[in-house]
Amino acid sequence: MSAAPTETRPASADVPALLQVQGLVIEAGGRIVQQGLEFDVRRGEVLAIVGPSGCGKTTLLRHLVGLALPRAGRVLLDGQDLHAADEAALAALRRRFGVMFQAGALWTSMTVGENLMLPLRLFTRLDAAGRERRAREKLALVGLEPAFGLMPAELSGGMRKRAALARALALEPELLFLDEPGSGLDPVNSARLDELVLDLRHHLGTTVVMVTHEVPSVLAVADRMLYLDELERTMTALAPPALLLEQGPPAVQRFLRRGASPLGALAP
Ligand SMILES: Nc1ncnc2c1ncn2[C@@H]1O[C@H](COP(=O)(O)OP(=O)(O)O)[C@@H](O)[C@H]1O
Ligand SMILES: [Mg+2]
Repeated sequence: MSAAPTETRPASADVPALLQVQGLVIEAGGRIVQQGLEFDVRRGEVLAIVGPSGCGKTTLLRHLVGLALPRAGRVLLDGQDLHAADEAALAALRRRFGVMFQAGALWTSMTVGENLMLPLRLFTRLDAAGRERRAREKLALVGLEPAFGLMPAELSGGMRKRAALARALALEPELLFLDEPGSGLDPVNSARLDELVLDLRHHLGTTVVMVTHEVPSVLAVADRMLYLDELERTMTALAPPALLLEQGPPAVQRFLRRGASPLGALAP
């Protein structure tokens, strides 16, 4: 590929950034929800986007995958401006993403297996047998192999969530976006999901951007955490979560401590 070299600042001296967010201002419902967003996603890292409900996490994710147009600023994938790309170029860039949104919506009129095989039919050259093999393999990864022939309506909420994750993994994306992957899961499945994220990173080198407000999960899997402050309407921290727990700004420390302690989690 011969994308024009862009003015880019590397995430660090030795890890080139996969995604760069520059001066991003985002709005939802006609209101600016976050501004001054400036960060990189490094190749191979797990970056958690964290903050209280309503601070703009899902909105930010929609901008990072090119579904929403920024009020100002840019999102670059390998130096290519997502929002300046024409439709064909954007489609090519998006093919490198796996996305699982909060609702984890599956196509309800297809079996779980068909849900995974459709993107494979659209975007790969795999033949029918290859598509089925890939679909079963990804379902097995999330512990759902037996659900291959079931309809989404026959699954529990947690199973549906995992099936949606398997679908996001079907195309073996280099960059995976997850919106609240643990919500609605019981603690066992939630821990399992954390392990899966770590496995993907470790074995496939997948870069993961995970929106969550679940602190234990952040502490378990994230290399770095980006904190979006609701009142200041901007990012107020970007660092490894363990470091922020000790040395972050007061609001960030409070958020982490409240979520990390089992008693805090029960508090209103
Ligand atoms: N389509 C929309 N129309 C109006 N307001 C919206 C819309 N989407 C989001 N918002 C508002 O924008 C803010 C950020 O929402 P969201 O990104 O979903 O937050 P989070 O994912 O952090 O909980 C919230 O106040 C929400 O009510
Ligand atoms: Mg959200």
